[in-house]
Amino acid sequence: MEISVKVTVVYYSATGHVADIAREIAVTAEKAGAEVRLRRVAELAPREAVESQAVWAANAAATAGIPLAGVEDIVWADAVLMGSPTRFGNIAAPLKQFLDTLGGAWRKGELADKIYSGFTSTGSPHGGNESTLLALMHSFHHFGGIVVAPGFTHPDKLVDGNPYGTAHHDVGGTVPVGDVTRNAARVQAERVVRLARTLTVTAL
Ligand SMILES: Cc1cc2nc3c(=O)[nH]c(=O)nc-3n(C[C@H](O)[C@H](O)[C@H](O)COP(=O)(O)O)c2cc1C
Repeated sequence: MEISVKVTVVYYSATGHVADIAREIAVTAEKAGAEVRLRRVAELAPREAVESQAVWAANAAATAGIPLAGVEDIVWADAVLMGSPTRFGNIAAPLKQFLDTLGGAWRKGELADKIYSGFTSTGSPHGGNESTLLALMHSFHHFGGIVVAPGFTHPDKLVDGNPYGTAHHDVGGTVPVGDVTRNAARVQAERVVRLARTLTVTAL
């Protein structure tokens, strides 16, 4: 009998790169047998700002059908994968705002003992993808989470080269998410589901 695991993929994305990775992770986790919730966090930028950039407006329209993340989506999950674009070497404000809504659940211990893992996208290869992934992990540690990084646990990780999490770089918005990033996302999602399953069995 396959042990059922619940995975929430929660992300912020302005111009679609992180949204693409989130979808890849969600599809992979589902194929690996997990029950998956794909959730986006609410946009904080004013509508005029979003509409001032065609690519931003297009991503907002394309992802409007993805439900907004709520605290209950984190509490529900055995494993949570969080993604954000790099903003000045850090996570984007909308994801941080969402993290700040988790205080009540944190106080009740409802965020602890889950698996957490992060993903990101940057404009340049050394523009802060690692610092963004590590910034996400700060919060995961506060939650009492079990941080699962992909490490170099699969040959595909030697290709993308980031042991902290899946990280695309869009070369100033010109390069869409491609096979290298998708492969890394699949490795990460499969690893998270596998370890979440192990943890669930251990807790039975
Ligand atoms: C305000 C702002 C700050 C950014 N800061 C960085 C940065 O520090 N380093 C970097 O490489 N890219 C930076 N970028 C570029 C984004 O991280 C990059 O385009 C990312 O792929 C966007 O992801 P998205 O398409 O999911 O929104 C920044 C973009 C914005 C709008």
